[in-house]
Amino acid sequence: MILYGNSVLNANGELCIGGWRVSDLKREFGTPLYVYDEDYIRASIQSYHSAFAGTGVDYALSYACKAFCTVAMCQLAREENVWLDVVSGGELYTALQAGVDPAFVCMHGNNKSPEELLFAIRAGIGMIVIDNFYEIELLGDLLEQENATIDALLRVSPGVDVHTHEYIATGRQDSKFGFDLYSGQVDQAIDRLAAYPRIQLLGLHSHIGSQIFDADGFRVAASRLASLCAHLGRRYGIWFRVLNLGGGMGIRYTSDDSPIPVERLVEGIVQAAVASFREYGIPLPRLMMEPGRSIVAQAGTTIYTVGSRKEIQGVRTYVAVDGGMTDNPRLALYGAKYEACIANRANDPDMETVSIAGKCCESGDMLIWDVALPKPTPGDILAVSCTGAYNYSMASNYNRVARPAVVFVRDGQARLVVERETAADVCRLDRSLRGPTIESLG
Ligand code: LLP
Repeated sequence: MILYGNSVLNANGELCIGGWRVSDLKREFGTPLYVYDEDYIRASIQSYHSAFAGTGVDYALSYACKAFCTVAMCQLAREENVWLDVVSGGELYTALQAGVDPAFVCMHGNNKSPEELLFAIRAGIGMIVIDNFYEIELLGDLLEQENATIDALLRVSPGVDVHTHEYIATGRQDSKFGFDLYSGQVDQAIDRLAAYPRIQLLGLHSHIGSQIFDADGFRVAASRLASLCAHLGRRYGIWFRVLNLGGGMGIRYTSDDSPIPVERLVEGIVQAAVASFREYGIPLPRLMMEPGRSIVAQAGTTIYTVGSRKEIQGVRTYVAVDGGMTDNPRLALYGAKYEACIANRANDPDMETVSIAGKCCESGDMLIWDVALPKPTPGDILAVSCTGAYNYSMASNYNRVARPAVVFVRDGQARLVVERETAADVCRLDRSLRGPTIESLG
């Protein structure tokens, strides 16, 4: 397992994160447990800042909350001087609960509801990314009703096909997101916007996908957007102030993954944007990027307790832990690969190859296929690395499993940032069959 940030093995071969032994974390908080190395999250954000600062362009960073959205994470992101990208009323609510200045919140979504748009308008968020024609009219009418204005970007689907999992490739032409670049939908959107002066168009947005390892796709997107900007400038006299190139920067889940370092990625993207805008002879707008995964994934580790085991001679050995697809559905959804260690005795030489199963009633409930580990025995602590992104945020209560707690560790201090759910929490919204009914109005 690759050790990131402040994760180390101590002299006894026990994994320690942020100055805490995993056995102590287990004793204090129970398992399964999401453990975040707080300083490493901060360092990841800072590496983006220094990469952008090194290029000298005007920029702003935004954290894509969907990767891991909690009150503490929103607070941390703002402390590190990044905007927050939210995609639902729930994420916006979380950001506001965190006390974040709404002026630094940007809202996305391909089907924002009237309620979500009203919530965003009334909260006074800093920017909205308009995704489609329906939204232009809905937002325009709501702004009229509220006597308000809002800064906006238009999301463009730039037709870039990056090499990633089909479900997380979002920028290609056949996508549910954004205005299609090729059929003139951006021009049509701008024509429509003329009827809604309360929407103040600041620029364009594109997001080409997720878990991307190099700058190539971003280069293509930057060049297409520059060409579009030049066209819109000529046709409408609009010169944009913001160009948001989205998120999607890849991380190293296993030693087979090889994303280029953030510094080089940012440099490559910025150079491409600068060159493209220069080619068209138009000024480069402020560049925005909105990484999610690359801010939090490597900083997160999930610890589990090993339980049952099933050996099938000549086939495979299953070792089950006390979590699974309910806290990490990414193998089931995308075939994602993770690395793990027996965290209480990682260096034990008595190895075997096993597959790590969860505890849900579903054969697909697997965390890792075929991993070599010191022979796992009940009570051992299994640590799975790189679980900081899209694990807690996609966790479910399937089988009415309660979701794990989340702790931030830093310099030997652990802070509980999300409490462990209880069975009572899971049942909280249920109502009895013997409760009141409501008669149909029809
Ligand atoms: N901006 C937009 C508009 C996005 O749609 C996304 C991710 C991001 C930024 C952040 O992308 P990141 O830097 O995190 O790659 N559940 C999937 C990932 C879905 C990503 C959706 N959009 C997974 O577990 O891999």
